[in-house]
Amino acid sequence: MANSPNDMMADSPVKVNTPGEAPAGPSPEEQKKMEAAYNQMKRKMAISEMGKAIKHKIMVLSGKGGVGKSTVATGLALSLAQQGLKVGLLDIDITGPNVPKMMGLDGRRLNVEGGRIHPAQGHLGVKVISMAFLLEDEDTPVVWRGPIKLGAIQQFIGDVDWGNLDYLIIDFPPGTSDEPLTVAQNLPDIDGMVIVTTPQDVALLDSRKSITFANSLKVDVIGVIENMSGYTIRGKAPAGAEIELAAPGGKTVKAQADSDGNWAGTLDIFKSGGGEKTANEFNVPFLGKLPFDPGFVRGGDDGVHRIVSEPDGPSSEAFSKVVAKIQERVESGSTEGGLEII
Ligand SMILES: Nc1ncnc2c1ncn2[C@@H]1O[C@H](COP(=O)(O)OP(=O)(O)OP(=O)(O)O)[C@@H](O)[C@H]1O
Ligand SMILES: [Mg+2]
Repeated sequence: MANSPNDMMADSPVKVNTPGEAPAGPSPEEQKKMEAAYNQMKRKMAISEMGKAIKHKIMVLSGKGGVGKSTVATGLALSLAQQGLKVGLLDIDITGPNVPKMMGLDGRRLNVEGGRIHPAQGHLGVKVISMAFLLEDEDTPVVWRGPIKLGAIQQFIGDVDWGNLDYLIIDFPPGTSDEPLTVAQNLPDIDGMVIVTTPQDVALLDSRKSITFANSLKVDVIGVIENMSGYTIRGKAPAGAEIELAAPGGKTVKAQADSDGNWAGTLDIFKSGGGEKTANEFNVPFLGKLPFDPGFVRGGDDGVHRIVSEPDGPSSEAFSKVVAKIQERVESGSTEGGLEII
Protein backbone atom coordinates (compact mmCIF):
# COMPACT_ATOMS: atom_id res chain seq x y z
CA MET A 1 0.00 0.00 0.00
CA ALA A 2 1.34 3.41 -0.88
CA ASN A 3 1.81 5.45 2.27
CA SER A 4 4.06 8.34 1.17
CA PRO A 5 4.02 10.58 -1.91
CA ASN A 6 7.36 9.05 -2.98
CA ASP A 7 5.99 5.48 -2.83
CA MET A 8 3.16 6.56 -5.07
CA MET A 9 5.61 8.09 -7.55
CA ALA A 10 8.19 5.34 -7.45
CA ASP A 11 8.68 5.52 -11.24
CA SER A 12 8.65 9.30 -11.43
CA PRO A 13 11.92 11.25 -11.66
CA VAL A 14 10.37 13.84 -9.33
CA LYS A 15 10.88 13.29 -5.59
CA VAL A 16 8.35 14.94 -3.27
CA ASN A 17 9.61 15.82 0.22
CA THR A 18 7.54 14.75 3.20
CA PRO A 19 7.39 17.30 6.06
CA GLY A 20 10.52 17.21 8.25
CA GLU A 21 12.54 15.42 5.56
CA ALA A 22 15.69 17.17 4.21
CA PRO A 23 15.14 18.62 0.69
CA ALA A 24 16.06 16.02 -1.91
CA GLY A 25 18.72 16.76 -4.57
CA PRO A 26 17.72 16.51 -8.19
CA SER A 27 17.24 13.00 -9.58
CA PRO A 28 19.83 11.83 -12.15
CA GLU A 29 17.29 12.49 -14.88
CA GLU A 30 16.64 16.04 -13.62
CA GLN A 31 20.38 16.58 -13.37
CA LYS A 32 20.78 15.54 -17.01
CA LYS A 33 18.01 17.90 -18.11
CA MET A 34 19.52 20.77 -16.12
CA GLU A 35 22.94 20.10 -17.61
CA ALA A 36 21.49 19.98 -21.13
CA ALA A 37 19.63 23.27 -20.55
CA TYR A 38 22.80 24.85 -19.14
CA ASN A 39 24.90 23.69 -22.08
CA GLN A 40 22.26 24.92 -24.51
CA MET A 41 22.26 28.32 -22.79
CA LYS A 42 26.06 28.44 -22.78
CA ARG A 43 26.12 27.63 -26.49
CA LYS A 44 23.52 30.31 -27.27
CA MET A 45 25.62 32.85 -25.37
CA ALA A 46 28.77 31.73 -27.21
CA ILE A 47 26.94 31.98 -30.55
CA SER A 48 25.66 35.44 -29.70
CA GLU A 49 29.22 36.53 -28.72
CA MET A 50 30.54 35.00 -31.92
CA GLY A 51 27.86 36.83 -33.90
CA LYS A 52 29.30 40.10 -32.61
CA ALA A 53 32.97 39.11 -33.08
CA ILE A 54 32.45 38.18 -36.77
CA LYS A 55 31.50 41.21 -38.85
CA HIS A 56 30.23 39.45 -41.97
CA LYS A 57 28.98 35.91 -42.57
CA ILE A 58 28.47 34.61 -46.07
CA MET A 59 27.04 31.25 -47.17
CA VAL A 60 28.23 29.76 -50.47
CA LEU A 61 25.68 27.50 -52.17
CA SER A 62 24.77 25.93 -55.48
CA GLY A 63 21.86 23.86 -56.64
CA LYS A 64 24.06 21.38 -58.48
CA GLY A 65 27.19 19.53 -57.39
CA GLY A 66 30.62 20.03 -58.91
CA VAL A 67 30.11 23.61 -60.12
CA GLY A 68 33.13 24.79 -58.11
CA LYS A 69 31.49 25.88 -54.86
CA SER A 70 34.41 24.82 -52.66
CA THR A 71 36.95 26.29 -55.10
CA VAL A 72 35.00 29.55 -55.10
CA ALA A 73 34.42 29.61 -51.30
CA THR A 74 38.14 29.02 -50.73
CA GLY A 75 39.01 31.62 -53.38
CA LEU A 76 36.72 34.23 -51.81
CA ALA A 77 38.32 33.62 -48.40
CA LEU A 78 41.84 33.89 -49.86
CA SER A 79 41.02 36.96 -51.92
CA LEU A 80 39.66 38.73 -48.82
CA ALA A 81 42.75 37.64 -46.87
CA GLN A 82 44.94 39.09 -49.66
CA GLN A 83 43.55 42.49 -48.64
CA GLY A 84 44.87 41.90 -45.11
CA LEU A 85 41.41 41.12 -43.67
CA LYS A 86 40.83 38.52 -40.93
CA VAL A 87 39.01 35.65 -42.56
CA GLY A 88 37.53 32.30 -41.47
CA LEU A 89 36.38 29.43 -43.68
CA LEU A 90 33.85 26.92 -42.37
CA ASP A 91 33.50 23.77 -44.48
CA ILE A 92 30.20 22.05 -43.70
CA ASP A 93 30.49 19.34 -46.36
CA ILE A 94 30.85 16.02 -44.57
CA THR A 95 30.44 13.81 -47.65
CA GLY A 96 33.10 15.37 -49.86
CA PRO A 97 35.15 17.83 -47.84
CA ASN A 98 37.98 19.09 -50.05
CA VAL A 99 38.51 22.55 -48.58
CA PRO A 100 41.40 21.37 -46.30
CA LYS A 101 43.23 20.03 -49.35
CA MET A 102 43.00 23.36 -51.17
CA MET A 103 44.15 25.20 -48.04
CA GLY A 104 47.21 22.97 -47.55
CA LEU A 105 45.64 21.39 -44.44
CA ASP A 106 45.18 17.85 -45.68
CA GLY A 107 45.19 15.27 -42.88
CA ARG A 108 44.51 17.81 -40.09
CA ARG A 109 42.40 16.69 -37.14
CA LEU A 110 40.22 18.74 -34.82
CA ASN A 111 42.13 20.77 -32.26
CA VAL A 112 40.14 20.98 -29.02
CA GLU A 113 41.58 22.83 -26.03
CA GLY A 114 39.81 24.05 -22.90
CA GLY A 115 36.46 22.84 -24.25
CA ARG A 116 36.75 25.03 -27.37
CA ILE A 117 37.51 24.01 -30.94
CA HIS A 118 40.45 25.90 -32.44
CA PRO A 119 40.60 26.52 -36.20
CA ALA A 120 43.65 25.49 -38.23
CA GLN A 121 45.66 28.19 -40.06
CA GLY A 122 45.53 27.77 -43.82
CA HIS A 123 47.16 29.79 -46.62
CA LEU A 124 47.36 33.59 -46.07
CA GLY A 125 46.37 33.12 -42.41
CA VAL A 126 42.79 32.03 -43.20
CA LYS A 127 41.31 30.18 -40.20
CA VAL A 128 39.77 26.89 -41.30
CA ILE A 129 37.33 24.49 -39.70
CA SER A 130 36.25 21.51 -41.76
CA MET A 131 34.06 18.50 -41.19
CA ALA A 132 37.03 16.61 -42.66
CA PHE A 133 38.89 17.28 -39.39
CA LEU A 134 36.45 14.80 -37.78
CA LEU A 135 37.24 11.92 -40.13
CA GLU A 136 39.16 8.93 -38.84
CA ASP A 137 41.04 8.73 -42.09
CA GLU A 138 40.61 10.09 -45.61
CA ASP A 139 39.47 6.82 -47.16
CA THR A 140 36.60 6.01 -44.81
CA PRO A 141 33.35 7.46 -46.12
CA VAL A 142 31.24 9.20 -43.53
CA VAL A 143 27.74 7.90 -43.03
CA TRP A 144 26.15 10.10 -40.43
CA ARG A 145 22.49 9.97 -39.59
CA GLY A 146 20.74 13.32 -40.04
CA PRO A 147 20.40 14.34 -36.35
CA ILE A 148 24.06 13.55 -35.58
CA LYS A 149 25.22 15.53 -38.60
CA LEU A 150 23.06 18.51 -37.70
CA GLY A 151 24.19 18.30 -34.05
CA ALA A 152 27.81 18.45 -35.24
CA ILE A 153 27.01 21.53 -37.32
CA GLN A 154 25.43 23.24 -34.29
CA GLN A 155 28.52 22.40 -32.30
CA PHE A 156 30.74 23.78 -35.06
CA ILE A 157 28.81 27.01 -34.89
CA GLY A 158 28.76 27.34 -31.11
CA ASP A 159 32.04 25.83 -29.95
CA VAL A 160 34.63 27.17 -32.39
CA ASP A 161 36.90 29.90 -31.10
CA TRP A 162 37.19 32.07 -34.23
CA GLY A 163 38.29 35.20 -32.39
CA ASN A 164 37.54 38.46 -34.20
CA LEU A 165 36.94 38.05 -37.92
CA ASP A 166 36.06 40.45 -40.71
CA TYR A 167 34.54 37.66 -42.80
CA LEU A 168 33.38 34.09 -42.27
CA ILE A 169 32.79 32.15 -45.50
CA ILE A 170 30.71 28.97 -45.19
CA ASP A 171 30.92 26.22 -47.81
CA PHE A 172 28.07 23.69 -48.12
CA PRO A 173 27.38 20.38 -49.82
CA PRO A 174 25.45 20.70 -53.07
CA GLY A 175 21.71 21.18 -53.16
CA THR A 176 19.07 22.63 -50.95
CA SER A 177 19.54 20.37 -47.96
CA ASP A 178 19.27 20.45 -44.16
CA GLU A 179 22.75 21.89 -43.67
CA PRO A 180 22.07 25.44 -44.87
CA LEU A 181 18.79 25.43 -42.96
CA THR A 182 20.57 24.43 -39.73
CA VAL A 183 23.19 27.14 -40.22
CA ALA A 184 20.58 29.78 -41.11
CA GLN A 185 18.60 28.90 -37.98
CA ASN A 186 21.56 28.87 -35.61
CA LEU A 187 23.92 31.56 -36.80
CA PRO A 188 22.74 35.12 -36.16
CA ASP A 189 23.03 38.01 -38.63
CA ILE A 190 24.04 36.14 -41.77
CA ASP A 191 24.70 38.76 -44.44
CA GLY A 192 23.44 36.48 -47.17
CA MET A 193 24.30 33.76 -49.64
CA VAL A 194 26.34 33.68 -52.78
CA ILE A 195 25.11 31.26 -55.44
CA VAL A 196 27.68 29.58 -57.66
CA THR A 197 26.69 28.35 -61.07
CA THR A 198 28.32 27.26 -64.32
CA PRO A 199 27.05 28.64 -67.60
CA GLN A 200 25.30 25.36 -68.50
CA ASP A 201 21.51 25.17 -68.65
CA VAL A 202 21.18 22.35 -66.07
CA ALA A 203 23.28 24.22 -63.54
CA LEU A 204 21.25 27.35 -64.17
CA LEU A 205 18.01 25.54 -63.56
CA ASP A 206 19.39 24.36 -60.22
CA SER A 207 20.66 27.79 -59.25
CA ARG A 208 17.15 29.09 -59.80
CA LYS A 209 16.08 26.53 -57.18
CA SER A 210 18.77 27.90 -54.83
CA ILE A 211 17.36 31.39 -55.14
CA THR A 212 13.88 30.14 -54.26
CA PHE A 213 15.45 28.21 -51.36
CA ALA A 214 17.21 31.36 -50.12
CA ASN A 215 13.91 33.15 -50.12
CA SER A 216 12.33 30.36 -48.08
CA LEU A 217 15.19 30.61 -45.53
CA LYS A 218 14.73 34.38 -45.48
CA VAL A 219 18.43 34.73 -46.20
CA ASP A 220 19.33 37.52 -48.57
CA VAL A 221 20.90 36.58 -51.91
CA ILE A 222 24.09 38.62 -52.22
CA GLY A 223 24.37 37.56 -55.83
CA VAL A 224 25.19 34.93 -58.45
CA ILE A 225 28.73 34.00 -59.59
CA GLU A 226 29.27 32.29 -62.94
CA ASN A 227 32.20 29.89 -62.54
CA MET A 228 34.16 28.06 -65.29
CA SER A 229 33.11 30.84 -67.60
CA GLY A 230 35.45 31.02 -70.57
CA TYR A 231 38.89 29.50 -71.08
CA THR A 232 41.56 31.93 -72.21
CA ILE A 233 44.29 30.56 -74.44
CA ARG A 234 47.49 32.60 -74.68
CA GLY A 235 50.33 32.31 -77.15
CA LYS A 236 53.10 33.99 -79.12
CA ALA A 237 53.04 34.99 -82.77
CA PRO A 238 54.70 37.65 -84.94
CA ALA A 239 53.60 41.14 -83.86
CA GLY A 240 50.22 42.08 -85.33
CA ALA A 241 49.47 38.53 -86.57
CA GLU A 242 45.81 37.54 -86.70
CA ILE A 243 44.93 34.25 -85.00
CA GLU A 244 41.78 32.21 -85.51
CA LEU A 245 40.70 29.73 -82.85
CA ALA A 246 38.17 27.00 -83.50
CA ALA A 247 35.58 27.41 -80.72
CA PRO A 248 32.79 25.01 -79.59
CA GLY A 249 29.63 25.05 -81.70
CA GLY A 250 31.57 25.55 -84.96
CA LYS A 251 32.34 29.16 -84.04
CA THR A 252 35.59 31.01 -84.60
CA VAL A 253 37.28 33.27 -82.08
CA LYS A 254 39.69 35.85 -83.44
CA ALA A 255 42.73 37.23 -81.65
CA GLN A 256 45.55 39.54 -82.65
CA ALA A 257 49.14 39.49 -81.44
CA ASP A 258 50.27 42.74 -79.81
CA SER A 259 53.54 44.54 -80.55
CA ASP A 260 55.39 42.04 -78.30
CA GLY A 261 53.79 39.15 -80.15
CA ASN A 262 51.49 38.10 -77.28
CA TRP A 263 47.95 37.04 -78.13
CA ALA A 264 44.99 35.77 -76.08
CA GLY A 265 41.61 34.37 -77.10
CA THR A 266 38.74 33.24 -74.87
CA LEU A 267 36.68 30.15 -75.66
CA ASP A 268 33.28 29.80 -74.00
CA ILE A 269 33.55 26.05 -73.51
CA PHE A 270 30.40 25.85 -71.35
CA LYS A 271 28.53 28.70 -73.10
CA SER A 272 28.44 32.10 -71.42
CA GLY A 273 26.10 34.66 -69.88
CA GLY A 274 23.72 32.23 -68.16
CA GLY A 275 24.61 33.33 -64.61
CA GLU A 276 23.76 36.89 -65.46
CA LYS A 277 20.51 35.79 -67.09
CA THR A 278 19.45 33.93 -63.93
CA ALA A 279 20.41 36.87 -61.73
CA ASN A 280 18.36 39.24 -63.88
CA GLU A 281 15.43 36.87 -63.98
CA PHE A 282 15.27 36.78 -60.17
CA ASN A 283 16.24 40.39 -59.74
CA VAL A 284 19.36 39.59 -57.68
CA PRO A 285 22.85 41.05 -58.33
CA PHE A 286 25.25 39.40 -60.76
CA LEU A 287 28.68 39.31 -59.11
CA GLY A 288 30.75 38.39 -62.14
CA LYS A 289 32.46 35.58 -64.02
CA LEU A 290 35.39 33.43 -62.93
CA PRO A 291 37.40 31.90 -65.76
CA PHE A 292 37.89 28.22 -66.45
CA ASP A 293 41.45 27.74 -65.26
CA PRO A 294 43.18 24.33 -65.17
CA GLY A 295 45.30 25.81 -62.36
CA PHE A 296 42.31 25.36 -60.04
CA VAL A 297 42.34 21.62 -60.66
CA ARG A 298 46.08 21.42 -60.00
CA GLY A 299 45.59 23.53 -56.85
CA GLY A 300 43.00 21.05 -55.64
CA ASP A 301 45.54 18.27 -56.06
CA ASP A 302 48.75 19.84 -54.78
CA GLY A 303 47.22 21.93 -51.98
CA VAL A 304 48.05 25.37 -53.35
CA HIS A 305 45.04 27.36 -54.50
CA ARG A 306 45.46 29.42 -57.70
CA ILE A 307 45.23 32.67 -55.70
CA VAL A 308 48.27 31.60 -53.66
CA SER A 309 50.32 30.21 -56.58
CA GLU A 310 49.58 33.18 -58.87
CA PRO A 311 48.45 36.12 -56.70
CA ASP A 312 48.57 38.60 -59.58
CA GLY A 313 47.31 36.27 -62.32
CA PRO A 314 44.05 36.62 -64.28
CA SER A 315 42.10 34.26 -61.96
CA SER A 316 43.14 36.19 -58.83
CA GLU A 317 42.14 39.37 -60.60
CA ALA A 318 38.71 37.93 -61.47
CA PHE A 319 38.25 36.90 -57.81
CA SER A 320 39.19 40.41 -56.61
CA LYS A 321 36.52 41.93 -58.84
CA VAL A 322 33.85 39.53 -57.53
CA VAL A 323 34.98 40.10 -53.94
CA ALA A 324 34.82 43.89 -54.40
CA LYS A 325 31.17 43.57 -55.44
CA ILE A 326 30.39 41.34 -52.44
CA GLN A 327 32.11 43.79 -50.08
CA GLU A 328 30.30 46.74 -51.58
CA ARG A 329 27.00 45.00 -50.96
CA VAL A 330 27.53 43.62 -47.45
CA GLU A 331 29.53 46.54 -46.08
CA SER A 332 26.88 49.02 -47.22
CA GLY A 333 24.41 46.97 -45.16
CA SER A 334 22.11 46.47 -48.12
CA THR A 335 21.47 42.84 -47.16
CA GLU A 336 18.79 41.93 -44.69
CA GLY A 337 20.27 39.18 -42.47
CA GLY A 338 19.07 35.67 -41.60
CA LEU A 339 16.45 34.04 -39.46
CA GLU A 340 16.02 34.59 -35.76
CA ILE A 341 17.99 32.15 -33.59
CA ILE A 342 15.82 29.34 -32.27
N1 LIG B 1 37.08 27.89 -62.53
C1 LIG B 1 37.49 26.63 -62.61
N2 LIG B 1 38.29 26.24 -63.63
C2 LIG B 1 38.71 24.95 -63.73
N3 LIG B 1 38.38 23.99 -62.87
C3 LIG B 1 37.58 24.32 -61.84
C4 LIG B 1 37.11 25.65 -61.64
N4 LIG B 1 36.35 25.68 -60.51
C5 LIG B 1 36.35 24.43 -60.02
N5 LIG B 1 37.09 23.61 -60.80
C6 LIG B 1 37.33 22.17 -60.63
O1 LIG B 1 36.07 21.52 -60.68
C7 LIG B 1 36.03 20.44 -59.75
C8 LIG B 1 34.86 20.64 -58.77
O2 LIG B 1 35.13 21.79 -58.00
P1 LIG B 1 34.67 21.92 -56.48
O3 LIG B 1 35.05 20.74 -55.69
O4 LIG B 1 35.10 23.25 -56.02
O5 LIG B 1 33.09 21.91 -56.73
P2 LIG B 1 31.91 21.80 -55.67
O6 LIG B 1 30.75 22.53 -56.28
O7 LIG B 1 32.36 22.26 -54.35
O8 LIG B 1 31.67 20.25 -55.65
P3 LIG B 1 30.71 19.45 -54.64
O9 LIG B 1 29.33 19.71 -55.16
O10 LIG B 1 31.17 18.04 -54.78
O11 LIG B 1 30.93 20.05 -53.27
C9 LIG B 1 37.38 20.43 -59.06
O12 LIG B 1 38.21 19.50 -59.71
C10 LIG B 1 37.92 21.84 -59.27
O13 LIG B 1 39.33 21.90 -59.29
MG1 LIG C 1 32.38 21.21 -52.46
